[in-house]
Amino acid sequence: MSAEPNRLDALLSETRTFSPSEEFRANANFSDPAIYQQADANPEAYWGNQAKNLTWFKPFTQVLDWHPPYAKWFGDGTLNVTYNCVDRHRETWRKNKAAIIWEGEPGDAKVYTYEMLGHEVDKAAHMLQKLGVKKGDRVTVYLPMIPELPITLLACAKIGAIHSVVFAGFSPKSLHERIVDADSRLLITADAGWRRGQVVPLKINADQAVEDSPIEKVLVVERVGKDFSSEMVAGRDVFWHELIKESPSTPFAAAEMNAEDILFLLYTSGTTGKPKGIVHTTGGYLVGANTSMRSVFDIKDEDVYWCSADIGWVTGHTYTVYGPLSTGATVLMFEGTPDWPRRDRYWELIEKYGVTIFYTAPTSIRTFMKWGLDYPNSRDLSSLRLLGTVGEPINPEAWMWYHQHIGHEQCPIVDTWWQTETGCAMIAPLPGLIETKPGSATKAVPGVSATVVDETGTPVGEGNGGYLVITKPWPSMLRTIWGDDARYKSTYWGRFKDTYMPGDGAHLDEHGYLWILGRIDDVINVSGHRIGSMEVESALVDHSAVAEAAVIGRSHEIKGQAITAFVTVKEGIETSVELANVLKQHVVDKIGSIARPEEILFTAELPKTRSAKIMRRLLRDIAEGRVLGDTTTLADPSVIESLKLQYKDSE
Ligand code: WTA
Repeated sequence: MSAEPNRLDALLSETRTFSPSEEFRANANFSDPAIYQQADANPEAYWGNQAKNLTWFKPFTQVLDWHPPYAKWFGDGTLNVTYNCVDRHRETWRKNKAAIIWEGEPGDAKVYTYEMLGHEVDKAAHMLQKLGVKKGDRVTVYLPMIPELPITLLACAKIGAIHSVVFAGFSPKSLHERIVDADSRLLITADAGWRRGQVVPLKINADQAVEDSPIEKVLVVERVGKDFSSEMVAGRDVFWHELIKESPSTPFAAAEMNAEDILFLLYTSGTTGKPKGIVHTTGGYLVGANTSMRSVFDIKDEDVYWCSADIGWVTGHTYTVYGPLSTGATVLMFEGTPDWPRRDRYWELIEKYGVTIFYTAPTSIRTFMKWGLDYPNSRDLSSLRLLGTVGEPINPEAWMWYHQHIGHEQCPIVDTWWQTETGCAMIAPLPGLIETKPGSATKAVPGVSATVVDETGTPVGEGNGGYLVITKPWPSMLRTIWGDDARYKSTYWGRFKDTYMPGDGAHLDEHGYLWILGRIDDVINVSGHRIGSMEVESALVDHSAVAEAAVIGRSHEIKGQAITAFVTVKEGIETSVELANVLKQHVVDKIGSIARPEEILFTAELPKTRSAKIMRRLLRDIAEGRVLGDTTTLADPSVIESLKLQYKDSE
């Protein structure tokens, strides 16, 4: 297992515990500790009850139908996600409540009440229908963090079309692969986006991505506008603002969807070079998103809730769009970065809008720590009542800093472990009920069964580490990998019988708390984003100078992990700093800037076992300086040979 030894030591010596205030406990949505035993004794009854918080067109009669590894949740029920997230609130006092408060990077802002959001979604649904979108069609979405992004998702869901959002930082090639895999006919993008005052081209990327793809129409939102002209291809490209004018202002009837109909695909990295299209369905996903919003995030009508993740990732899907809107909450959505125009932008937003619940990633917290206290201290953060983190293990120092300097020791912290595949938070404290420990995601939420097992699948018991597993199905679990049932079975369910294997290592402490240790496969977690080693390796060997490449994640103070690439070049190629930079840029062009290697180390050979497997642990130790202080000697062929001897051949 590749779990970091240093992290484990640090965690196991952590003894601090934190309890919610009496006031928080008394007012929490989930305040009865018995819920854990009740849900454990009968998970189906628990989920069946939680599902009643949604509005069903036709109520389900069966909660779960489980033929491992295939689950049907609420399988004979029908509903519509957008009806649940928007329209049902329009029929209540929430009609004029703010649904989405949006702030753009340049400081422009818009507020959509539930009524206004519903109106925009209906117009967008009419527009998509006019473009030929039908129930079950896949719509690829490549948009920045602008209101049209959630409006698009909700419009697709209202029609019953399947959206596939591709994070706007991905390259044209990555977008192309996802379009082709999903077989999408429509792409929705923008002319460009804003990033730290600069214009980021999106339409230009989209133009490249749609070549030789099934895309027939490209719908373009004008975000940046006049100064940034995008070439429109006649017959294929159409502007959102022009087409939407033709939409009738009549309500769009919500499609009656079966609970098991697909809601969306979201691509994520795995251990092979090809990203996986994770399939989420209508009923189970929404039950998971809605329940965790109420239980883990303790959402109330008075809250102003902000999840800083981009909607291009699962966190934004579940905790900016579907979770909070399904509860009728007020959501803040922000287009920009925390350091533009100043490093207090997040704190400014919390002060300006009176944010009460704030959810972000450990990598951001570590960055804020580095920037210093002047920024948060210059703003009034007293509206905050609950904080959350997600994406990677949080180190206790960052947890304590967040607790003291952002939460002012008043706010419980929910460290939420989950994955694109799980749909919603799985291991996280219910903030009114669970005492927290800095660095631990604590326990599985009610209705979820998580444990830690050894190589043979036997639970390790308290005080031990091993593989994190989920032993029972849950409503928002992925149903399959798009077009690849075999990969679904082998990746997640192939290791232990009828048990879901997330690919993380974990330690169970003597109080039954879980400490997530990080990935145990070849997936690298850079700033909370999953990158497959193989994806980066394929991008590198695609360059004409490269013979072979091995990519690992090494620990990094701010990013959690950083990508280090070991590269052997072809005969006759001179290695140089310039070549390293060219290769880094090549990876950016192929995948996107999130996959940019932090460093490239040229080596005369790659260390391999007798069965020709790359010795990643040795490479990680080299990159982290444990075996070789000065990596410049790496080009000497004897170095790797002598190092290999110190490592077991069994990797
Ligand atoms: C990691 C993001 C420790 C983990 C929601 C998981 C975490 C992967 C945590 C999923 C956490 C996420 N503590 N590790 N609180 N949250 N991870 O699919 O390795 O982008 O398997 O989903 O991130 O990443 P994904």
